[in-house]
Parts: sequence; C-alpha cells; structure tokens
Amino acid sequence: MRTPVRRIRIGSAALAASAALLLGLAAAPAAQAGTDGAKETKTLHELARESGRYFGAAVDNPELADTEFAELLGTEFGQTTPGNGMKWYATEPQRGVFDFTAGDEIVDYARANGLKVRGHTLLWHSQLPDWLTSGTWTAGELRSILKNHITKVVKHYRGKVFAWDVANEIMNEDGTYRENIFYTTLGPGYVADALRWARAADPKVKLYLNDYNVEALGPKSDAYYTLIKQLKRDRVPIDGFGLQGHLALQYGFPGGLKENLRRFADLGVDVALTELDIRMILPSDETKLAEQADWYARVTDACLAVRRCVGITLWGYTDRHSWIPAVFPGEGAALPWDENLRHKPAYDAIRSALTAAGS
Ligand code: XIL
Repeated sequence: MRTPVRRIRIGSAALAASAALLLGLAAAPAAQAGTDGAKETKTLHELARESGRYFGAAVDNPELADTEFAELLGTEFGQTTPGNGMKWYATEPQRGVFDFTAGDEIVDYARANGLKVRGHTLLWHSQLPDWLTSGTWTAGELRSILKNHITKVVKHYRGKVFAWDVANEIMNEDGTYRENIFYTTLGPGYVADALRWARAADPKVKLYLNDYNVEALGPKSDAYYTLIKQLKRDRVPIDGFGLQGHLALQYGFPGGLKENLRRFADLGVDVALTELDIRMILPSDETKLAEQADWYARVTDACLAVRRCVGITLWGYTDRHSWIPAVFPGEGAALPWDENLRHKPAYDAIRSALTAAGS
C-alpha cells in the first residue's frame, strides 16, 4: 500500500533554491529531489524519528477499505493502534473462543507499510463482550477469565506489537479506582496481576496503563503517579504511562502537561500521547483552527521536551474518520487533516514543532 512517490512540495522550497542560486550559494543537496529542484517533504514520522520518537495514528478496521486514507496512513506515519480491533469484545467474543481477525488485519497492514503497532487494550470497562458483563462471577472465576484473556491475547501478538495498554481508564476523575467489573470483584490488586500476567506472556513488550483527562496535573494524574510509584516499589512490571490526549478547546489547555510528563518519566517509565485529538464546538472557524494548531504544537513540544516521551499517536488523523462527532454531538474537526485529507493549520504546526526539535 505504500505509495511509491512521496508527496512533493514546491513553492517556498523552490523559491529558496532559486534565491540561493542567484546569490551564488550552493543549495543543500539533501533538500533536492529529482531534477526539478523541488524539496521532498519529510513525513511527520520521519521528522519525529529525527528526535528518536514515532508519530502515529490509530485506525479502525473498516477504514482500511478507504484506499486513499490507507495509503496516506501508510506513508505519513510510523506507528498505528487498532481503534477497536484488539478490544475484548473483538478478541474473545465467546468465553474461551478467540478471534484475532480484526487485530491481525491491522498488524498485517502495519507490517506491509513499515508501521509499528501499539496493542490496545487488554482490560477496560467498556466494549466488553456480553457473556462477560452479563455473567455473575466469583472472584476465582473472574481471575481465571482475566488471566486467560491476557495470556492468550498477549501471546498471540508477541513480537507483533511493541506495547500494550494493559489496563485502560481504571481511575475516576477524583483519583479513586473506577468501579469496573474487575475492581468490584477482585479489588485493586487486579491491576498488578494483569501486568504480571502480561509480562509472563511476553517478556519484551512494553506494558502501559492508559487513561484520559490525565494530561494536566491534578487528582486523576496524581492517582496514576502514586500507583505507578507503588508498582515500581513492589517490582510489578510497568513500563509506561499512556496519556490519551482527547482534548477539547472549550475546556482549556491541560495545565502542567510538560511537568506531568516529566514526573512520570522520573519514576522510570516511558510516557506517550496515545490517542491525541483536539476537538472543538462546531462549526469550526479560522480562529478555532488556529487555536487548535497552537495546541497541537504545544502537545508536540511537551513530548519533545521529555526524553522518555517516546511518541505521539493521533486517534485517527483525518476528520473523515473520527470518533468525535458520534460520541460528542455538536463537536468535531479534531484532527490535523480535514475530511478531504487536506492539511489543516494543525498539520503545519506539528511539522514546525517537530522540525524545530530535529534541527
Ligand atoms: C473509541 C473508538 O474510536 C470508537 O470507534 C468506539 O466506538 C469507541 O471507542 N478512549 C479509548 C479508545 O481508549 O479505545 C476509544 O476508542 C476512545 C476513548
């Protein structure tokens, strides 16, 4: 699917080249592509890689049929995350019956296009299969169900995903544990168990906790800070903290993002922006798009400022395929590419932030 020809930018680069010639300066050969003097545009991932990071975008299986979309995903990005394909409802639709079709499709696509894959997610309160949510389970039964699920899924994707969101969204806004089926039946120890089972199934994969509304300093991110510190102290395998990054202009930029990333990194774990999108109340206009662009740059800058921030994943990359309008009615326009796959100001802002860091 990788397009053989990269998108070429002319315009300012060509002008700069002719100006350089007029001034008798040699144009840098690296900036030339072919004989037309046009500058080859580096992809966001290529720019991110210059500072040792990946730049990725999530994909939901049906979107792969959109070839224009899939080609751009495969060329612009270096990492992907299945939007739904590895969730429990998809991977274990019947008790003990596993179906890796959707996840495998994305892993195969990723391999063909040179993208690495984050696994998402082994345990979550949402998108669980009916057999699991409608059953009544003793603690012993649920423990063995959870252990079996984690073991089977992690083993299947061993060597194919570089990281797992082992537990997704396990905290409330006030920093208490979310009362999901696992917490209410097993107590808080289920998190450490899940991490240990995942490690036993794949000694190398990076194990993450992942949540939303944890970008700012505050009670929810504090709860993860305390938990990860404790897990480290107890020698429970934990490698990373994923900050989803589902931001919204109307709520203000998350205060202390950089400091927050840094304090987790200082605990000895990687951090990543795992599901970044920045929505707005529709309709979008120039002012909102400019503010959105500024936010994308600030998030990128924050990641680039922290050595252990390993990469950024957009939750989809185009407004053509975004979960926002369905889940937040009246909101949208959250991604750096518009519905026609044209760059929005956010794209240029991310580029500039990455370019500044690489140079
Ligand atoms: C979303 C998907 O994008 C949608 O297609 C699905 O209907 C609901 O889930 N946080 C997460 C993701 O961790 O798994 C969610 O993905 C978005 C919020």
